Amino acid sequence: MSDTTGIDLALLERARARFDEHFGAETAPRVAVAPGRVNLIGEHTDYNDGFVLPMAIGRAAVVVFRPRDDRTLRGHSVAFDETKSVELDELSAPGGDDWLSYVAGVAWAFESEGLPTTGLDVVVDGDVPIGAGLSSSAALELATARALAAVGGLDWDPVRMAKVGQKAENQYVGMNCGIMDQFASAVSEDGKAVLLDCRSLETRPVPVPGGAAVVVMDTGARRSLAGSAYNDRRAACERVVAHLTTLDPSVAALRDVTPQLLERGKDGLDPTDLKRARHVVPENTRPVKMAEALKSGDLQAAGQLMNDSHYSLRDLYEVSCEELDLITEIAREQPACYGARMTGAGFGGCAVALVRADRAEEFCDRVLPAYKAKIDLPAELFPCRPVAGARLLD
Ligand code: GLA
Repeated sequence: MSDTTGIDLALLERARARFDEHFGAETAPRVAVAPGRVNLIGEHTDYNDGFVLPMAIGRAAVVVFRPRDDRTLRGHSVAFDETKSVELDELSAPGGDDWLSYVAGVAWAFESEGLPTTGLDVVVDGDVPIGAGLSSSAALELATARALAAVGGLDWDPVRMAKVGQKAENQYVGMNCGIMDQFASAVSEDGKAVLLDCRSLETRPVPVPGGAAVVVMDTGARRSLAGSAYNDRRAACERVVAHLTTLDPSVAALRDVTPQLLERGKDGLDPTDLKRARHVVPENTRPVKMAEALKSGDLQAAGQLMNDSHYSLRDLYEVSCEELDLITEIAREQPACYGARMTGAGFGGCAVALVRADRAEEFCDRVLPAYKAKIDLPAELFPCRPVAGARLLD
């Protein structure tokens, strides 16, 4: 069972019970939650100053918290069944990349931005699968930010807090991600995906039409290689920009590159770098096109854009994998499916399909066994609706 915001009520109950168990039940703790996200389209475009179209989902990070009267941050993780603490005054970047580092990293980012911090007892729980491309880390960062903002008496500023979350991840945890995940987890509105311009940080809410269901397809595959491959892709994009700037000084990011300019500059580029750019340049036009297709209810067009995006990520950006290719192929074979693609950084994790709403369940019932017959991994399919960003539950 879930509440109106899509949060699993049993999950909330478990997190609260763990809090009482570990930190005592004298005074009631508060609860902050922040959603994971599925990116509908615009993959590997955020760090190229481009467009993305993510949607916050009902799977969330939960932070149950109570202020302390000292400067200790003491946390218990339900997933890792572990309790650890750090001193707020001893935090320095880079920190670590274990679960507590996401919480501590946000406290560090608050401090470095001159925002108030207080010692806390926290229980960290959630149902965003870890490492599956649904942004469990951004969700934890934003739930932590929401908790720290509440304790510090700050007005909630979702855009600022998305940036604080990204700073924690880039500088404290050491993962050089773009702004998409933190943004989706911070600013999303109930019932709507969000079209984000990663340069201006302007957003436009994009309702998902009633006739369509968004289905997350978790392949069950997890790849540790994702971090270094991600950094390689970023570096390739930067090399292309450095070269094209010599032809057109107005180019500051791949966002500014037209197919014509790329063609003109191609001889001076490493062939692999050229391939990477040949993904990013057209991919960057897809979020706006998909937002328009969703707005006009042209689900065929929206689905086609998703398929094109997948093929480009597979063949040009080379961040897909056997499991993602297979699950999206099986999805596309279903008559109820408009289109399917991998979502997030890639190399495993989840794909996403746009499906006829009245046949979403049947779609899941068909795709899962067909996939499992070929790949023996703990795969999972679930339809999801767009939910609101980080919030307090009181
Ligand atoms: C990860 C990063 C995002 C984005 C995607 C790829 O999810 O955290 O910033 O770059 O990969 O689109």
